[in-house]
Formats: sequence, structure tokens, C-alpha cells
Amino acid sequence: MKATIAVLPGDGIGPEVVGQAKDLLALIAAKFGHEFTFVEGMIGGIAIDETGEPLPAETVAICEAADAILLGAVGGPKWSDPTATVQPERGLLELRQRFGLFANLRPVKTYPALVDHAPLRAELLRDVDILFVRELVSGIYFGDRQEQGAGDVSYDTMRYSREEVEQVANVAFRAAQGRRKKLCSVDKANVLASMRLWRRVVVAVHEEYEEVELEHLLVDAATMHLLTRPASFDVIVAGNMFGDILSDEASVLAGSLGMLPSASLRSDSFGLYEPVHGSAPDIAGQGIANPIGMFLSAAMLLRYSLQLEDEARAIESAVDAALDAGLRTADIAGEGEASVSTGEFAAAVKNRL
Ligand code: IPM
Ligand code: MG
Repeated sequence: MKATIAVLPGDGIGPEVVGQAKDLLALIAAKFGHEFTFVEGMIGGIAIDETGEPLPAETVAICEAADAILLGAVGGPKWSDPTATVQPERGLLELRQRFGLFANLRPVKTYPALVDHAPLRAELLRDVDILFVRELVSGIYFGDRQEQGAGDVSYDTMRYSREEVEQVANVAFRAAQGRRKKLCSVDKANVLASMRLWRRVVVAVHEEYEEVELEHLLVDAATMHLLTRPASFDVIVAGNMFGDILSDEASVLAGSLGMLPSASLRSDSFGLYEPVHGSAPDIAGQGIANPIGMFLSAAMLLRYSLQLEDEARAIESAVDAALDAGLRTADIAGEGEASVSTGEFAAAVKNRL
């Protein structure tokens, strides 16, 4: 098949991991007889430096002409002055909102090869396989807001509409149907009006998915349950901010934030694929970033935007095989264990394809 992929490396370790993922996709294309065209665009801090805007119109045009977007990371200390009028992160938020990518899928699973070095007891981590479905284009990230300006008050508003909750709840219930048929909805319905609406709508949508077992957790309790009984969760659905926080917490279960991929989807096959990790400025440019989150995001791109399930599995199996063979980037190497560079890990994955 022919596909056009918009490639937005962004900042920090973004270019390092995106470069490797592009090579990996090119190899997949060669091996499976596809034709992928990669078109590169700027986003984040680098785009601010070059154009004054975190999401230049040219980048939007590149994405509009593409079948899917592959993105690295945005942000860094250079642009993190809290008084700055424009943040690199705005570029990413605008991109998600402009393309209506309301459902953010973040799978988290433990790797048998890594559990021995995990900060949690190995027996707790056995069989952890969670899919987070995070609402991505509404909630407090996109509600009414007032910047501080010269004054002493500023605010952000958490707002949800019935339609917004319905569409993300439907994605979550459908995902649960195809998995272990359990859904946990996270909210703060004991305090927040928007979260009472959230719960009411999730309960109503549940009527169409009776075979799925539904559980509700308040977000504070959810942070604890995630660590005390992680293997009991199947699909977890949450609003924009709670999903953001819980998915970072859950990365501990996988061994490192560097392991986690994500897909941001809407109702058609278009999507944005990015690792959950950020730009990691502390290790940028050193060639030691973990490319797994990025590679697994590329696999999700093949699966969800291009419907290439075998090709997606090929990447996932090659990553598993490289881990099983003992290859570790620094973030997942145990004490006294040797680590390999981003390039060495990527080469090992390609060799196993
Ligand atoms: C994420 C990130 C982003 C978010 C930032 C970079 C805007 O933390 O994708 O989880 O908060 O959504
Ligand atoms: Mg985050």
C-alpha cells in the first residue's frame, strides 16, 4: 500500500527517536512491499525558534495531506520560562485539538524481562496489561482560562459536555469488548460537577455494552489501586488531566516512561502517534534515549491508521525479542547491567524484524 506519514521530530530526544522510527518504518515498507512517503515538519520549541509559532501553518498543511502523524516530543528548558507568552506544548495541544483527536490510547504492560528491576514487587507486576483511554481534546486543558497577566489571579476551567464523554466512553467500552471486558472509569464525582456528568454519561453508555463489567474509581483512590492491584485492570477511561497523570504513574509498571507508546485517534483512521515520554532534555543529544515507546507508537500507526496488523506485530515481536536477548538502554538497565545506545538498540530491533 501507499501511505504518506507526517514526521514531526520536535525537541530534545524527539529527533533521535523519531529518526530511528522512520528507518524502522522504511524497513517495514521494504520488507512487506509498501510505499511510505515521509514528509517532515516543525513543532514545539524548534518551531518557535524558526517561525515564532509552536505549530506553523506549514506543519498543519503537511499533517492535513498525510494519512498519519508520527511525533517525537516537544518542550525543554530553553522555552520553559513561565512568563513566556508561547509554550512549545501549545503546539502539541493545538495539533490534537485541530485534528479532533479525542481518544488517546496508552497501553501499559509489564515485560517479564524487566520485572526483576522494577520498584514494585515482581508478584504484583505479573500479567499487568492495561489500556488507558484518555480524553484528549477537552476538559481542563481546553476550558475557559485566564492567564495571570499583571494580576494575582488566574484560572482554568474543567468542562465536559455529554457528547464529549459519550464519544470517548464508546471507544473505551469497545476496546474493553475486544479485551478482557472490564472497564474502570476514573473521575472525581464526589467533588467536581463536570465529573458527576462524566460518571452519569459513562453509566448511560454502559447500557449498550452490558457484557462489559464497569467499575468507577475516584482519581485519588485510582492512584493507589494502580500500584496495589495493577493486574486487575483491563481498560481505564479518564478525562484529559487525570489520564495524563495516571499514565505517567503507570509507566512505573512497565519499567520506564521510555517504554510507553500512544495513539491519538478520532472516528476515521487518521491518527497522531507519539511516545508518552517527553523531550527529556537531560539526556538529549547523548544517543542514549530508549526508542521503545517511539517504536511501539510506530506499530500503533501501522495498526490503526494503515490497518497493517501483521506489520505492527512484526515491530512488537522484534522489540520483545531484543529485550529477551538482554539488550537494555540506560533507563531500563538493572544495577551493574551493561546498557546500549539508542542506535544499538534500534539496530537490534531491525535485525530481528
Ligand atoms: C502528554 C504530555 C502533554 C500533556 C504535554 C507535553 C502537553 O504530558 O502527552 O502526556 O500534558 O498532554
Ligand atoms: Mg503527560
